[in-house]
Amino acid sequence: MALRLLLSTLFSLIATVRSAPLLGARQSITALSSTQISSFKPFTFFASTAYCQPSTTLTWSCGANCAANVGFIPTASGGDGSDTQFWYVGFSPVQSTVIVAHQGTDPSQLVADLTDADFVLTKLDPKLFPGIPSSIEVHNGFAASHARSAPAILAAVQKTISAHNAKSVTVVGHSLGAALSLLDSVYLPLHISGVSFRMIGYGMPRVGNQAFANYIDQHAGATHINNKEDPVPILPGRFLGFVHPSGEVHIEDSGEWAMCPGQDNTSTQCSTGDVPNVLESNVNDHDGPYDGVTMGC
Ligand SMILES: *[C@@H]1O[C@H](CO)[C@@H](O)[C@H](O)[C@H]1NC(C)=O
Repeated sequence: MALRLLLSTLFSLIATVRSAPLLGARQSITALSSTQISSFKPFTFFASTAYCQPSTTLTWSCGANCAANVGFIPTASGGDGSDTQFWYVGFSPVQSTVIVAHQGTDPSQLVADLTDADFVLTKLDPKLFPGIPSSIEVHNGFAASHARSAPAILAAVQKTISAHNAKSVTVVGHSLGAALSLLDSVYLPLHISGVSFRMIGYGMPRVGNQAFANYIDQHAGATHINNKEDPVPILPGRFLGFVHPSGEVHIEDSGEWAMCPGQDNTSTQCSTGDVPNVLESNVNDHDGPYDGVTMGC
């Protein structure tokens, strides 16, 4: 009897604690306008295009994905789609920016990899990331994968900037590709000056620790768009020391795009609050659609 009372008190206490701050947070999380949502569409297609074979992104003849961004001028493409994710670099005259895009991976495999905890937080290689604070740590698998394409991508970005006198670089990617793009958003500015950088990711997992998230927030910043109950953005778990940078946009079940302030906002309008664990997620949400665009080639 006493135990039942204790349990029911405990549950109502938890219910109160869970709902009280959320009611307050609901009012202050803002929704993107339809114009703001549409402004992401070219970049969503650029991220999706990274799933296409490098031979077809190099000639910009990859079908619907390439056709969605007519006039794009590719510089270089690479990767083998297994050890090294596909990537491409080029110039978009319409957006007046250099585009760097990374391929993602199979969602179920990624979820399995990120839940088995067969990975560690590791320091960034000071040769690739000169001067980076040693407090910064990232997922060792993401860092290794990023290192395999980093030098070729840096060379292609430098070449594209000079060829088009570009003033801006935008790195995009979905899934694992978003994690690689986030690392590029730290890596490229350490080697290139005189241009602005922007990062737009879709269904991005957590990539690094608190110091890494703070570094992103203090430098270029990142926009990471998450669809509904996708499990990938809540992995690896925060209890393992992983933290998202600010800049989440969460697509809600209603279709509204919520702008989520702060790092790992726990409001139910944002991924961390909306998706309590992998069992209550939906891996089919990972590929989208993101405003009508489903990732893949
Ligand atoms: C989540 O967003 C709300 C609404 O803007 C804000 O008040 C709150 O501080 C945010 N939470 C975190 C953890 O950043």
